[in-house]
Amino acid sequence: MQTAKLTLGEQTVELPTLEGTEKELAIDISALRAKTGYITLDQGYANTGSCKSEITFIDGERGILRYRGYDIEDLASQATFPEVCYLLIYDKLPAPQERENWRKQLTQHSLVHESMLNFFQHFPPTAHPMDVLSAMVAALPAFYPDENDIHLDIIRLIAKTKTLVAIAYKKSIGEPIVYPKSDYSYMANFLRMMFATPAEPYVFSKTLEDALNLLLIIHADHEQNCSTSTVRMVGSSHASVYASVSAGISALSGPLHGGANQEVLEMLEAIRKEGSATKKYIAKAKDKNDGFRLMGFGHRVYKNFDPRAKLLKKSCDAVLAELKIDDPLLNIAKELEEAALQDSYFVERKLFPNVDFYSGILYRALGIPTNMFTVMFALGRMPGWIAHWKEMRDNPQERIHRPRQLYVGSPQRPFLPLGERK
Ligand code: CMC
Repeated sequence: MQTAKLTLGEQTVELPTLEGTEKELAIDISALRAKTGYITLDQGYANTGSCKSEITFIDGERGILRYRGYDIEDLASQATFPEVCYLLIYDKLPAPQERENWRKQLTQHSLVHESMLNFFQHFPPTAHPMDVLSAMVAALPAFYPDENDIHLDIIRLIAKTKTLVAIAYKKSIGEPIVYPKSDYSYMANFLRMMFATPAEPYVFSKTLEDALNLLLIIHADHEQNCSTSTVRMVGSSHASVYASVSAGISALSGPLHGGANQEVLEMLEAIRKEGSATKKYIAKAKDKNDGFRLMGFGHRVYKNFDPRAKLLKKSCDAVLAELKIDDPLLNIAKELEEAALQDSYFVERKLFPNVDFYSGILYRALGIPTNMFTVMFALGRMPGWIAHWKEMRDNPQERIHRPRQLYVGSPQRPFLPLGERK
């Protein structure tokens, strides 16, 4: 590979370049500060590779997303979410015996410690389920202390998160919790824990299970996004996988990241209430004096289309038709998408619908309430976070993450005694 030459006044330094599997190019600046005294400044890390990773490949220009080399379209149409979890974490699609063992282990560890239920009793009913989930995941190791068995921690996290999510939901609506059943699949177990009541048992629905499977698979990983980078950052201090993932859940809750799916629905609802005022909202999004953004639009990496949004849009149409749901919000979403895609503001900035634009409508069709949307995203993202945590911890070259900064605050100044301060 050629080297990059950087000239700083009289000094020229040569920096090695690197090429990834898919011909992605990088300049290795690891030695830059030692050689020149300079650091690089890259707001929002838009040009910074924080690690080498073998997990997920994204080509934002061509709208490509692959987990461990497999196209998202193939995984979404042919794999189950637990298989994708295994693939992301262990770098292979499980062979039949591995798949069976994985299924058994996930089922066996679905229950949560009975004492954990005490926590749920004391959260106020208004608590956001994301806050509850992040606290409960952080609390897990207190109930399952360190056994130095990473595989067991991984199984517990994947198996128990779905139970925690379902309990959080049941508590939020004041219904009795439903315990997992050992002869049910991951998806059926989750839907049953969410929707069965003492009066009405869970009725199997392939449509719902398939739609949920798709939703969880397309959320399963997305390389170095905000929450995954958080997981790697926290894990780089050798914090446990539970602590790291809990931090990831908190990062995901923000409206510019996972919280956007809830905001999309709230935005579509507001547009509906104002008589399908799509034009008004497009104008608001373009107005630089108005802080409003079209939620579910734009992406740091995808500059052509988000392949996840494409898959979801198709599934939305199919599920709504099959369940005979006529959702006015879907029509508003389509109108909004059409108007934005023809508007030069969005075209010039390459702003397209992202994964959150259609996921809310699909969750709604499945009967999942708006304040649970981001929690569903967290459920899907769990294997990705774990895979990144594990990849980092398995790499002997990883160092604690510790970025630099450019200090632009006050120069040194003398301390002011209280009487001299104004
Ligand atoms: N509505 C209106 N204008 C927008 C939007 C939007 N949704 N997104 C970006 N822009 C404009 C932005 O104002 C800027 O304009 P200008 O160049 O005139 O200053 C330009 O487009 C570039 O935006 P940016 O903020 O520099 O882009 P970014 O890469 O930092 O942000 C983003 C990416 C996803 C945070 C942003 O597009 C956004 O806020 N979208 C809405 C929230 C959303 O849908 N988030 C979910 C992301 S996908 C799921 C996930 O990964 O969590």
